[in-house]
Amino acid sequence: MKITVVGAGAVGASCAEYIAIKNFASEVVLLDIKEDYAEGKAMDLMQTASLNGFDTKITGSTNDYSKTAGSDIAVITSGIPRKPGMTREELIGINAGIVKEVSSNIIKHSPDVTIIVVSNPMDTMTYLVHKTTDLPKNRIIGMGGALDSARFKYRLAEALEAPISDVDGMVIGGHSDKGMVPLTRLATRNSVLVSEFISEDRLSQVSEDTKVGGATLTKMLGTSAWYAPGAAVSGLVQAIACDQKKIFPCSTLLDGEYGLNDLCIGVPVVLGKGGIEKIVEIKLDEAEMNKLKESAEGVKKTNGLLEL
Ligand SMILES: NC(=O)c1ccc[n+]([C@@H]2O[C@H](COP(=O)([O-])OP(=O)(O)OC[C@H]3O[C@@H](n4cnc5c(N)ncnc54)[C@H](O)[C@@H]3O)[C@@H](O)[C@H]2O)c1
Repeated sequence: MKITVVGAGAVGASCAEYIAIKNFASEVVLLDIKEDYAEGKAMDLMQTASLNGFDTKITGSTNDYSKTAGSDIAVITSGIPRKPGMTREELIGINAGIVKEVSSNIIKHSPDVTIIVVSNPMDTMTYLVHKTTDLPKNRIIGMGGALDSARFKYRLAEALEAPISDVDGMVIGGHSDKGMVPLTRLATRNSVLVSEFISEDRLSQVSEDTKVGGATLTKMLGTSAWYAPGAAVSGLVQAIACDQKKIFPCSTLLDGEYGLNDLCIGVPVVLGKGGIEKIVEIKLDEAEMNKLKESAEGVKKTNGLLEL
């Protein structure tokens, strides 16, 4: 299993590290446009192998895509992150050009690849890859919901004063401060609906804190977060590489599902060796469906800024 991670910055390196530590891939190639940067990150990470006990080989490349040839999965994290006060949508001008060029270079050397898009605005960047490449739709996946759901579970556990492993919950919709739809009605603590334990007001606070999860960290760190994003990507990569058939909310091209068409937005999907093997249509109530539709309108507005 060969995995390429384009962009050896904060998220790319974190993602490569988690993939290596989980020890399911034979090779990870980190690629960056900055001279020697990916090679340096790869060397540093390889020097943790004996300490962390993994056998995955991590190599670096300065913009030489021949080194990525034959990759099964490629992750795109190249592009600029937001600074405090910025929205993800404001990154479109620079990141669209980068994502378009990077995806075309990856496919040239790995025609059977499955691409996971991370660069923001992620739903629009995922749509861009659909529009500008010939890859089948099951092999283009946007990562946002897996991270947003992890942040949701963190906030739920905090409110419930429970261990995170005791809670479950999912965030669907667009990967943006306004567009996320945390499914509070369906969230559980060890199979019991969380509404049995906390008030509606506290649950809406959890929902609001989840939606601004990224912005909160960007303000604290001066740039966007990387540990949880890297871990979330590694979860998707592992589900595909190990054919786990796990459900994650991912950004995928919709063709009538949830009454939506011609956009990529976060909905639950089954991930396995075929990439997105199934889009899962859960029964939403009217309020949840309205929020998803509103979120879709926001994503479409950002898609409209693309020069296709
Ligand atoms: N989808 C999500 O949930 C999520 C979460 C966190 C961050 N992000 C996004 O991921 C992206 C990366 O964030 P980061 O914090 O790692 O940024 P970063 O600046 O630390 O790293 C980005 C890297 O991309 C490289 N790069 C730029 N242009 C390139 C090109 N043409 N080819 C190869 N490499 C190139 C840069 O040299 C840099 O090393 C941002 O767009 C950020 O908004 C998305």
